[in-house]
Amino acid sequence: MKNHDIVEKNIGLMIILTVIAISFGALVEIVPQFFVENNREPIAGLKPLGPVALEGRDIYIREGCHVCHTQMVRPLRAEVERYGHYSMAQEHVYEHPFLWGSKRTGPDLARVGGRYSDEWHRAHLYNPRNVVPESIMPSYPWLFDNVVTGDHTAAKMRALRTVGVPYTDEDIASAAKPFVGGRVTEIDALVVYLQQLGTLVQQKR
Ligand code: HEC
Repeated sequence: MKNHDIVEKNIGLMIILTVIAISFGALVEIVPQFFVENNREPIAGLKPLGPVALEGRDIYIREGCHVCHTQMVRPLRAEVERYGHYSMAQEHVYEHPFLWGSKRTGPDLARVGGRYSDEWHRAHLYNPRNVVPESIMPSYPWLFDNVVTGDHTAAKMRALRTVGVPYTDEDIASAAKPFVGGRVTEIDALVVYLQQLGTLVQQKR
């Protein structure tokens, strides 16, 4: 009996060999990326998020914005023409976890920073139908009432520092400052976060 017949007639063996073949393909694609030094270098001007934007990002995650919105422009002509420069690894080195996503119910937001005014975002998040009549995006009116206390901002920065985000002791010591007196509502923080997305790369739109 030829070797090939043995494999074809033994489904267990076939599954094991298939898995080995596919794993090898993945290794060849993925492992070399770990050694591309350039992928891990932050893009010029990249700074860790400030305390308000950092809280905004957590609100973005809490509200599940990433479930409908990707933050990754793929290097395809249609995407680049619509959203701007394709996303680069170097823009995301301080993000834990990444919010690249894979499901687009709404548009990609990787480069939404600066595209609309703060007022537009506030009106849109209060009720998207205010500005986009046909929108199916949910409303988020509670963001206007909830105040960000900043109680955990320093701890979040410390945690991020352990995974390599270069927050300084000073950053951490002054993390709670912007929130004193309940001045920052959740909508404020979320809009600050949105307005910086993707702004380090020259927009060609
Ligand atoms: C159920 C899916 C869904 C969820 C959840 C969702 N969105 Fe959207 N979003 C959409 C759709 C659809 C659009 C396009 C219509 C519109 O502009 O309202 C959109 C549009 C947007 C836009 C305008 C983008 C552009 O380029 O015009 C922004 C900004 C935005 N969403 C932010 C958010 C934020 C922040 C959250 C979380 C608080 C969120 N979205 C949650 C579906 C969603």
